[in-house]
Amino acid sequence: MCGIVGYVGPKQALDVVIEGLRRLEYRGYDSAGVAIVADHRIDTRKKAGKLANLEAEIELDPLPASHTGIGHTRWATHGAPNDVNAHPHVSEDGTIAVIHNGIIENFAVLRDELIANGVKLRSETDTEVVAHLLAAQMKTSSNLADGLRAVCQRLTGAFTIVVVHSETPDVVVAARRNSPLVVGRGVGENFLASDVAAFIAHTRNAIELGQDQVVEITPDSITVTDFFGAPATVHEYEVTWDASAAEKGGYDLFMLKEIAEQPKAIADTLLGRIDATGKVSLEGIGLSDDELKSMKKIIITACGTAYHAGMIAKYAIEHWTRVPCEVELASEFRYRDPILTDDTLVISISQSGETMDTLMAMRYAREQGSKVLAICNSNGSTIPRESDGVIYTHAGPEVAVASTKAFLTQIVACYLFAMYLAQVRGTGFGESSSDIALELGRMSAKVDLVLDTSEAIRELAQEISDAQSILFIGRSVGFPVALEGALKLKELAYMHAEGFAAGELKHGPIALLEEGLPVIVVVPPQGHELHDKIVSNIQEVRARGAKTIVLAEDDDMTINEFAHHIIRLPKCPDLLQPLVATVPLQIFACEMATVKGYDVDQPRNLAKSVTVE
Ligand code: G6P
Repeated sequence: MCGIVGYVGPKQALDVVIEGLRRLEYRGYDSAGVAIVADHRIDTRKKAGKLANLEAEIELDPLPASHTGIGHTRWATHGAPNDVNAHPHVSEDGTIAVIHNGIIENFAVLRDELIANGVKLRSETDTEVVAHLLAAQMKTSSNLADGLRAVCQRLTGAFTIVVVHSETPDVVVAARRNSPLVVGRGVGENFLASDVAAFIAHTRNAIELGQDQVVEITPDSITVTDFFGAPATVHEYEVTWDASAAEKGGYDLFMLKEIAEQPKAIADTLLGRIDATGKVSLEGIGLSDDELKSMKKIIITACGTAYHAGMIAKYAIEHWTRVPCEVELASEFRYRDPILTDDTLVISISQSGETMDTLMAMRYAREQGSKVLAICNSNGSTIPRESDGVIYTHAGPEVAVASTKAFLTQIVACYLFAMYLAQVRGTGFGESSSDIALELGRMSAKVDLVLDTSEAIRELAQEISDAQSILFIGRSVGFPVALEGALKLKELAYMHAEGFAAGELKHGPIALLEEGLPVIVVVPPQGHELHDKIVSNIQEVRARGAKTIVLAEDDDMTINEFAHHIIRLPKCPDLLQPLVATVPLQIFACEMATVKGYDVDQPRNLAKSVTVE
């Protein structure tokens, strides 16, 4: 949700900033803009649409050489995604340029105050008020950081703000509250960004900023304070992946690359966490055995795809541990007055660790006295930082907006947690606990087998690409898989797609069936108590003229006569099946969007990291 880059150092600032924006474009692509400081002035270029439009603009109207610059890629909140509303926003006197991620909630009051003082605002954005407030503040503040601190004290809401001043080359100042910002420490150069991906080609040394902090970077210094100027302690760390991990690596699309990386992502997430006897260990979980034993209830909160991982986790946690588990959309959770006690464990699942709804839900839970465990893919992001413990997924950087490898690793982390909890509480799993843990260790190879069937899935997508609507049904853990399959299709192919619990079909959705409507069915493994019931559902669907596309185990012949298309899945334990069943649906959605000519990696209106409520 908006990507931000700042640079000071010996290189051409424009090149560094544009390169950083390219790596952050997943965060928003409604418009892009840059500002550079040179010869006591600020020059900006900004353009609606993707970064390529901005680059074309700069080609036509080049910028002077400069060693200080900031850049922004926007996901619009206030004001249409046009050239005027694109960031940076510049003060009337031209001395200050501002970029911003988040929402300034009191901007209307501040705007009215500025108008009353005779300031003429040019855009409809909340951001522009900061440029004018800061320009006025600079009349009394001794330096840019001081000025920004004073302005931040007047702002409410969520913001990362980055500013430059025409009279202070070699200085970039930024502030953060509830929105992400990391500092990259280079040699004779320093960086600011929403995500380390922006500067990973230059340095792996990163610094996390805390809440309500201001940072000033120069080529040789990084100074962090709170909003009142008191020095702040920061956490410095080394990023464990390199720039190549965030490149397409020979694939046409990031999504295709990330789908293909899933076996490795699963293996990396399992690495060192299950021993040869099937015993699970989870470093960093941050909860003692006594705490885990005393938990009476688990509530999982998450958004989007991560919410579907939570739904799968509920089945595993309740079956293996017998601890009641609820799953809540993070955006709903805190507004319904949930019952939270100190023997409730809240699990926040988030790839980015920055999703505002999930962050607010976990903060609320902690305020009520509950412990919070994060399942997260982004080291050092806000959600794990504010949690009692964390299980990191090791999916590596996920760039495509639609989540794939992060989802599978979230499911793996949830299984690991459920197994660990069962181990600590001595509940066993019903099945032999060590056997199922060892089975989990084999899932990476099974996902690899599913990837071998990609071509057939692509052909299927091409064959039915004219469909107006597609339904997905499943039962047990196949139900969230159906929801995820439908979500992927909505996100990427912009078409009507719905997932249902197959048992609910007869209670309404069956009325949607008509001749030729594709219905994708996730069939549980043979021997599962719901297997035969869903085979009956397939027959009901087919009897009403629908085209049945069935995902079933390798040797499940019971579905053959009722399926128009069969996608085969490797055999695995019931609860682990989502890891193999989701993959064909990801490939299917990706191909549907490709056939329709849509931008798979950057679907319209979406952003990967949603840092506003
Ligand atoms: C956005 C993305 C989804 C993602 C969701 C939650 O909506 O487009 O792909 O599942 O946010 O993101 P998180 O980073 O919290 O997992």
